[in-house]
Amino acid sequence: MYRAIYYLHSYWAYLVLLVVILATLNAITGVISKRSYGPRDFRISLFALICTHIQLLIGIVLFFISPKIVWFTEGVPVKEIMGDSVLRMYNVEHPLMMIIAVVLITIGYSKHKKKLSSAPKFKMLAIFYPLALIAILAMIPWAAWF
Ligand code: HEM
Repeated sequence: MYRAIYYLHSYWAYLVLLVVILATLNAITGVISKRSYGPRDFRISLFALICTHIQLLIGIVLFFISPKIVWFTEGVPVKEIMGDSVLRMYNVEHPLMMIIAVVLITIGYSKHKKKLSSAPKFKMLAIFYPLALIAILAMIPWAAWF
């Protein structure tokens, strides 16, 4: 069970990264080129939202079954978790920042949907999606992943 969820989370991360990069570039080029917002732009931003939300759900399941998560292991004080960079990364930084990234994408998506014209739609996406991308890039455990 753990292995399956671990691999799912690990491989789904490629899709998340790809789609969030694509949606970010699409939003930025939309702002720069001042083109009109179309169904393709909507699909890209929605796909990024869906992929990150699925990764969030897989991540939450992994949080409760991964041996790297020691919050539920008896006798591991918070001081030890915070004092060890690897334990801190998996137990605190990675989950917290990834949740923030998903929240940023959700805010950007819902704000852009409420705007009625192209420029503000792209603007909302071009603010929130790159911030989410930065959080994701900063908190991927690159050494363990590759
Ligand atoms: C956009 C969201 C996320 C991305 C892109 C992402 C990506 C990754 C990647 C690439 C790894 C390393 C996998 C490997 O070693 O092959 C990982 C590990 C992990 N992630 Fe995430 N993650 C995300 C969200 C979350 C969330 C929200 C949680 C928990 C609430 C979470 C919990 C974990 C845990 C516990 C591990 C360590 C698994 C293990 O080695 O046992 N992740 N994540």
